[in-house]
Amino acid sequence: MERPILTIKQAAKLLQVDPNTIYRWARAGKFPASKIGKEWRVLRSDVIKFLESKKKKNQFLTEAQEAELITALVGRREIPIKFEYLGEGADRYVSIYAPAVGGGSETEIIFDNKEHFLRYFEQKKFNLLDVGCGDGKKAAFFISHITRKASAYSALDISARMLDIAEQTIEISHPNLAFEKFIDDFEFGNIAHTTYYLHRRYQHNNLITFLGNTIGNTLDPHRVLINLRDSMGDEDLLLVGLAFHNPKNIPLVEYNQRSVIEWLWTIPEKIGIKRSDGNIEGIYNKTKRQFEHQLHFGKNWERMYGGSLIRFTKDLGKKDLTKLLVISARGGSAFG
Ligand SMILES: C[S@@+](CC[C@H](N)C(=O)[O-])C[C@H]1O[C@@H](n2cnc3c(N)ncnc32)[C@H](O)[C@@H]1O
Repeated sequence: MERPILTIKQAAKLLQVDPNTIYRWARAGKFPASKIGKEWRVLRSDVIKFLESKKKKNQFLTEAQEAELITALVGRREIPIKFEYLGEGADRYVSIYAPAVGGGSETEIIFDNKEHFLRYFEQKKFNLLDVGCGDGKKAAFFISHITRKASAYSALDISARMLDIAEQTIEISHPNLAFEKFIDDFEFGNIAHTTYYLHRRYQHNNLITFLGNTIGNTLDPHRVLINLRDSMGDEDLLLVGLAFHNPKNIPLVEYNQRSVIEWLWTIPEKIGIKRSDGNIEGIYNKTKRQFEHQLHFGKNWERMYGGSLIRFTKDLGKKDLTKLLVISARGGSAFG
């Protein structure tokens, strides 16, 4: 039977840390141990609670996101790319130096068709709701060049860090524009609670922008478009940067530059995969017509993550299961 009361050494063993660290924490009142005479004692249940409280503080993913990630890892051998934008992943993403990668050419398309857009947007005020806002630079460009009639700029994103970056961008480019941010996952359902709120708050229609091939990031673009449609009033507008578009024949090497690979290591490292365990390479998968990054393991790899065993091994049946995917432009995209 497990002992309910532990010594500091036993607690340290349970937590797999040096006992001196625990003594130090206990003396500083940072660990739930009590002094009985000259000896420290701690309840096993308090050690577990202590570990859980740490986990919450350091948690990168919410419990629901962790469940979704593990399901994708085990079920599809895939990292949903949306998780790569969380935390430091957001900073790594925005530091990728390649204006054309991820839809820079989209800005040019919008600019080249300025007159067409102006016909819609010059007449009325609207609330700009930027779904999957990224660093907010495309929205800033849109407000500056296409219309100055936005009554408010609202950013919606899965990543709190990305929303902060977008906020900084807009503060600099349009300091007097009302700004609101919404942390949400548009794959989970409609975002009518946000669009409805914006309607009432600003008394204008919404222009929803969904740019930068964010739709290519989603598991099921159809479902996401329905979610957006279900979030619109009859005079709201939706502008979608539809699919991966490569009119300038950007070579694959752009997608394999260090900053892109660095970004895509964000989630593998959170799971415990080390750089020495494998390589990430971007390819265009002609059969599936999708753009994907593959993490090739150099050796069999397995580890417990969030209570599940994750394995990337060659010896499971006949299948080669040594590949992990991050898909940035799902089936139907055009490359080259
Ligand atoms: C490819 S970037 C595009 C950024 C920006 N729209 C642009 O055109 O530069 C995708 C953005 O959508 C966000 N995103 C991806 N999947 C999401 C989801 N399911 N729910 C909410 N945001 C998501 C990412 O965090 C990131 O900011």
